[in-house]
Amino acid sequence: MTPHLNAEAGAYAEAVLLPGDPLRAKWIAETFLTDAIQVNSVRNCLGFTGTYKGQQVSVQATGMGQPSLGIYTHELITAYGVKTLIRVGTCGALNAKINVRDIVIATAASTDSSIPTQGMAPFHYAPTGDFGLARRAAEIAEDRRLPWHAGPILSSDVFYRPEGLDAFKPMIDHGVLAVEMEAATLYTLAARHGVRAIGVCGVSDSLITGEEIDADARATTLNDLADMCLTLAVTG
Ligand code: HPA
Repeated sequence: MTPHLNAEAGAYAEAVLLPGDPLRAKWIAETFLTDAIQVNSVRNCLGFTGTYKGQQVSVQATGMGQPSLGIYTHELITAYGVKTLIRVGTCGALNAKINVRDIVIATAASTDSSIPTQGMAPFHYAPTGDFGLARRAAEIAEDRRLPWHAGPILSSDVFYRPEGLDAFKPMIDHGVLAVEMEAATLYTLAARHGVRAIGVCGVSDSLITGEEIDADARATTLNDLADMCLTLAVTG
């Protein structure tokens, strides 16, 4: 038990999928896992453990944003011994070559959050995804002929920006592919504790074109993404 997780000791598998949304965690567990049991109920930030292709896997919601993700990630690693953390989320494209429904494997995550910089002065730490997990994620996407990209993303604390797309110009000009709100802190905490993490995101909207995914495409993309990330969890 931790302040934010009421799961029993040993209730989580070594590999955990991390969606932001508790209902997505429930949907992944109910749709893909065999013998899934709910292991966490605190704040309705649902967590489940079950079996996928014969191996134990967990799914734990993190809520939105880096402070929330940081709490769950810290407790999963330090109290439950989790070794592989796979963020399964959505992101907004910041590059014209990236379409809604594509999948972005986040090799690195820049951020405006102070969390990855705290305690690092005078340095600017570069939060980086695990190379082995990124490579395996790309292999799985390639085998399944899913449209994928691998590269740097932005984990932003601010969803609604008065300046709109202009706010992202320095990031776009430095090759950042997409924006979400969690990966940079996930990578920082994983590195701090010597465990592995990767963020794999479905593109839900494009900040370049204004296009947004429709409900049918969202369901298909989430299905492909969840199945891909579970395969990564058991083979990565
Ligand atoms: N901004 C931040 N996070 C996101 C977005 C976005 O446009 N789309 C999906 N997650």
